[in-house]
Amino acid sequence: MIANFVQLVYLVAAALFVFALHWMNTPATARRGVYAGVLGMVLAVVATWLQPQVIHHQGIIIAVIAGFVVGIPLSRVPLTAVPQRTALSHAFGGLAAGLVGTAKYYLWFGEGPAELTAFRTTAIIAEVILGFLTFTGSLMAAGKLQEIKWIPQRPVTYPFQNVTNIGLLLLAAGLGVAVVLQPTASWAAVAFGVIIALALTFGVLLIIPIGGADMPTVIAILNSYAGLAAVAMGFVLDNKLLIIAGALDGSSGLILAIIMCRAMNRSFTNVLFGAFGQVAPSKAGGEEKIYKSETIEGGAQVLEQANSVVIIPGYGMAVAQAQHKVRELYDQLKKRGATVKFAIHPVAGRMPGHMNVLLAEADIPYTDLVEMDDINPDMPQCDVALVVGANDVVNPAARTDKSSPIYGMPIIDADKARTVFAIKRSKNPGFAGIDNELYFSERTWMLFGDAKNVVGELVKQLSGPSVH
Ligand code: TAP
Repeated sequence: MIANFVQLVYLVAAALFVFALHWMNTPATARRGVYAGVLGMVLAVVATWLQPQVIHHQGIIIAVIAGFVVGIPLSRVPLTAVPQRTALSHAFGGLAAGLVGTAKYYLWFGEGPAELTAFRTTAIIAEVILGFLTFTGSLMAAGKLQEIKWIPQRPVTYPFQNVTNIGLLLLAAGLGVAVVLQPTASWAAVAFGVIIALALTFGVLLIIPIGGADMPTVIAILNSYAGLAAVAMGFVLDNKLLIIAGALDGSSGLILAIIMCRAMNRSFTNVLFGAFGQVAPSKAGGEEKIYKSETIEGGAQVLEQANSVVIIPGYGMAVAQAQHKVRELYDQLKKRGATVKFAIHPVAGRMPGHMNVLLAEADIPYTDLVEMDDINPDMPQCDVALVVGANDVVNPAARTDKSSPIYGMPIIDADKARTVFAIKRSKNPGFAGIDNELYFSERTWMLFGDAKNVVGELVKQLSGPSVH
């Protein structure tokens, strides 16, 4: 009776997970998607807890409390720290899968060797390898993104690195095959421990050659590893919901990683093995290029005259937390009858959907958020392109300079607008570490300063009596 009820609840939870992903497709239904996901997870936990074979309730209560104690502060991190926060969640997921697999193996090794069928032992080995490598890999990724001192941001490379890494993984897999063949042999218990150590080491070695720049993509890949570990755990524990949820997690992580790679015109192997983000030697002897700066008053005057304005937000808007001021500017321009659109690049910022989330937080109607491919044909007719802390995603070198590390990456054609204002604090490059021709173009004027201050000042000017 209770078993049937639990299976029914699992079915509802699985459906809620699928709908959650579907609803997260568009900002209009994203909130509903989050609620559906939370509800599905609560149902899954409660239904599992209700099962009669669960007897250690005290331990579960302590685990739930510990989860809240860690989870609530984690949910409060600033949006710019969400990629590393996500990495930490994957680390916990991977660790949980690894520990469950380890506990199950040693439990059955001692008390129920008949349970260690070839199928189940294979699932345990997969779970443990994926779980533990996700654990250390995700911790390293979070550390790189958080810029922790003793974890180098730049890619760390050494000779035969890929061979060593792949060799290590093959060794773990080879030992895994041996354990599957003779799971109850006395040496198998030791080999299992060695597999854990190899997986933990592999997780670290997998991440160190990858630059901080590629971490968000790597986190999506680790997300899919964590999902696969959960699938394996589902087979070990004979839990269908875990298999479904893990498969959804694994495939969505993979799809996300592919979308990010495409938006940067990079291949998977280039992200994983390309050591992107190494400091390139600066070109000597190049002449100093000239930036033209504009004053706030001058910028406001041009904006006041503009009929169509495209605002292009980037990572700098997130750093400055300028989205609310940007909303005020949007209101001022709309009040003057201008058409105002936001051009959204798929990898602007540091995580997928970064700009959408920030702009939604400031209640900017999502109907005015336009995807890169849809806005680009309109850019030549646009009076003012206002770049707010974006750099790489508006760098024309991606279209023209074959030697550029971002060559081939699709960009927002800000340079085609009649006038460009670019807000940033300094002459420093963006994420890819390269100069941006847009800033030296004759149509571009720089508004140097923190994005929140500059946009705030523009709003003040525009909301004053008249800027003429
Ligand atoms: P970036 O190229 O990183 O440029 C951001 C610019 O913002 C910098 O040039 C910086 O110049 C400026 N800035 C920083 N803080 C600021 C502040 N407080 N006020 C004003 N300006 C500020 O950003 P982007 O154009 O958004 O491009 C994103 C990059 O991240 C791409 O290269 C992309 O491939 C990479 N990436 C993104 C993702 C995802 S999923 N979004 C994943 C992996 C990699 P100053 O220092 O001079 O102010």
